[in-house]
Amino acid sequence: MIQVKDNVYWLGLRDWDLRRFHGHELSTHRGSSYNTYLIRDEKNILVDTVWNPFQEEFLEIIEKEVGFSNIHGIIINHMEPDHGGSLGALMEHLPKDTPIYCSPKGVESIKGHFHKEWNLIPVKTGDKINIGKSDITFVEMTMIHWPDSLAGFVSPANVLLSNDAFGEHYCSASIFEDESDPCEVNQEALKYFANILAPLTPLIRKKLAEIKALNLPVEVIAPSHGVIWRKDPMRIVEKYAQWAEDYHEGYVTIAYDTMYNSTKKMAEAIAKGIESQGVKCKIYNSSITDISDLLTEMFCSKGIILGSCTVNNGYLRSMAAVLSEIKGHKFKKKIGAAFGSSGWSNAAPEKLYDGLKDSGIDVVLEPIGVKFVPTPEDIEKCIKYGEEFARKVKESK
Ligand code: FEO
Repeated sequence: MIQVKDNVYWLGLRDWDLRRFHGHELSTHRGSSYNTYLIRDEKNILVDTVWNPFQEEFLEIIEKEVGFSNIHGIIINHMEPDHGGSLGALMEHLPKDTPIYCSPKGVESIKGHFHKEWNLIPVKTGDKINIGKSDITFVEMTMIHWPDSLAGFVSPANVLLSNDAFGEHYCSASIFEDESDPCEVNQEALKYFANILAPLTPLIRKKLAEIKALNLPVEVIAPSHGVIWRKDPMRIVEKYAQWAEDYHEGYVTIAYDTMYNSTKKMAEAIAKGIESQGVKCKIYNSSITDISDLLTEMFCSKGIILGSCTVNNGYLRSMAAVLSEIKGHKFKKKIGAAFGSSGWSNAAPEKLYDGLKDSGIDVVLEPIGVKFVPTPEDIEKCIKYGEEFARKVKESK
C-alpha cells in the first residue's frame, strides 16, 4: 500500500506485460496498471478493483494490507472489467449488504456483468458521503468513456479519483508522474486520449467545463491507469482541454499500402512536395505500422493522405482498418486526399477518396493515380500534388 496523500492510498497492480488491450484492438507498448485506491477513515472505502485475470493476487493484497472485515464500502467508478472485473470475487469475502456506490448507469452495468442482488447505491454529480473526517463528493463522468463513468473527490485530502480520465496505459517504476519519465507519460496520455477518448470530444469539452464550474480544490489527480498527478495536476486537465479542441500539430500524415512499391514511390514524391512548402510530413506503411500508433499520428495531423494500389477493384485491406479508425474517431477540421497506383483501373484512390469523405474529412484534392510504375513525369505530378496539398494545409484553419 502506497500513500497517495493524507488518508488516500494506492493498492493497485502493475501489469508490465500487457501489450494489447480491449481484446487486441489497442497496443500498450509500455504495459498498464489497474489503480485501486483505499480511503482510510472511520469507514474504509475501496475505490475500484482490478482486471479479473489478476483477481487472486488482488484479493491477497486486500486481505494482507487491509483485511476484508475492514472494508465498509466500495466505489465502482466504472464497470469495464479492467476496473470492476474483480468485484464478484471481492464480494464473496464481504457482507452482501456492503454498500457499493456507482453512477445510475453503473447500477445497470454492474447488474449486467454479475447478475447479483447487491446493495448498489446510485449517486449523481454533487452527491456526497461522509466517512468520518472526510467526505467523498461524486462527479458523473458520463462518456469518459462509458455511460457509467464516475469520479470521486476526497476532501479534505483534495484528491480526485478520476478513473479512466487523465490516465494512460503505462506501467512505471513509480506510481507518481513527477517520478516518471515525462516524455513517456505525455506520449502515453496522448495515445490514450487519441485512441479511446477522441470520438467523444464534444462531450469531454462539456464535461471539463462542468468540472471547472464545481470549483473543486484539486491537489492530486489519481486515475485508474498509469501515473498519479500530484505536481501541478491541472496540467493534464489543460492538456485534455487542448486535445478536445479539434487538436492538430500542423503536420501531414501519409498512410499507404503497396505491393510492388509504386504507391510507395508516389507517397515519397507527395511528401517531397509537401515538405518543399515548409509543412512537415510523416509517412507510414499501414500494413506494417501499429494501428493505434498510426491513429495517434493522424489525431495529431492537420492533413491525412491515404494511398493504396488497386486490388480486386478496391484498396489493400490494411487501408480498410485505417478508414474504419478515421470514421470511428469522428475527426473534425482535418483535410485529406487520396492516391495510388494501378494496373487496370483507378479504383483504390477513388474509393479512398470516397471513404475519407464519408468519414468527415474535408477532401481538398481530386484523387491521383498512376498506371503500373510511375514515370519521371508521374513523380513530378505527385510532387506538385504534395505542394498543392501543403498550400491547402496552410490555408485551412
Ligand atoms: Fe480502463 Fe474504460 O476502462
